[in-house]
Amino acid sequence: MGEAAIISQEGFKGRHILDFSSLSSAELKAVLALAEDLKKERDQGKLTPYLQGKTLAMIFEKASTRTRVSFEVAMFELGGHALFLSDSTTQIGRGETVPDTARVLSRYVHGIMIRTFAHEKVEELAKFSTVPVINGLTDDHHPCQVMADLLTISQHKGHLNGLTIAYVGDGNNMAHSILQAAPMVGMNVRIATPPGYEPKAEIVEQVKAWAKEAKTKVWVGHDPFEAVADADAVYTDVWASMGQEQEAEARKQVFMPYQVNAQLMGNAAKEALFLHCLPAHRGEEVTAEVIDSPASVVFDEVENRLHVQKALLVATMSDLWG
Ligand code: CP
Ligand code: NVA
Repeated sequence: MGEAAIISQEGFKGRHILDFSSLSSAELKAVLALAEDLKKERDQGKLTPYLQGKTLAMIFEKASTRTRVSFEVAMFELGGHALFLSDSTTQIGRGETVPDTARVLSRYVHGIMIRTFAHEKVEELAKFSTVPVINGLTDDHHPCQVMADLLTISQHKGHLNGLTIAYVGDGNNMAHSILQAAPMVGMNVRIATPPGYEPKAEIVEQVKAWAKEAKTKVWVGHDPFEAVADADAVYTDVWASMGQEQEAEARKQVFMPYQVNAQLMGNAAKEALFLHCLPAHRGEEVTAEVIDSPASVVFDEVENRLHVQKALLVATMSDLWG
């Protein structure tokens, strides 16, 4: 396996990945390097069964296209198997407790990926699981997506250290994960949200402490033009996340000044990238002109979900790495 094997960290196997505080900066960089290696191997038509005989349970309490497909394909390509478990067709939806679900699944599978609402549910699952639990999105965090985003930026810019990422929109799960990840890879981060939609204060405080240590900058404010000024990457996300559908109309009014359009992109650095976790609403948080422009790397982000998911699964579940 290349460079990634050399810099792999002791004791990674069995680790729960709930948010970026689950990893050290070196471990995060090792996962990204492993993802890069696995991408190269796949591009050469080589698939190594690092997870032969292993099964991943995937619990979905919210909709998904990318997360489900990338994890399921990842397990297949690693020689393992993935099980799709929806709340409506399992006992989870009928009230079987989180601790019992964790203990039951731990007797069958080698890892659990979960997408749900409250972040505390994932923490509780991890507490009672004897196999690694990976957060596939909660209301507060989406670390798997941001790992793919970091890989994408580094592929396009050649490095991450010293770059500035600006996120414009809702102070949601994406904003939190981008905030947390930035200082871990030496990036400056700026977040602009409408008043009342800021990221959680405790996460901002945590990230400010990390940034002080990493000697990077963190800015959280309300002016989208100030946020993107000379930024190397501009990121946005939907204005109403899953579970907020009833707020969608009201939010459109509040968020319109935060739309990423050609004028806003014009305030970023000349070669700035545009990123979006997808799904996107053209004409709302981003114009078609921007998301379908050469600056947009959204489908590289999509592909990198697969490589990053594979790296994370190998790191947490394989006997052959770490
Ligand atoms: N970006 C992302 O997580 O997409 P899905 O909701 O389709 O999984
Ligand atoms: N903030 C969005 C991200 C989707 C990948 C949501 O939670 O719905």
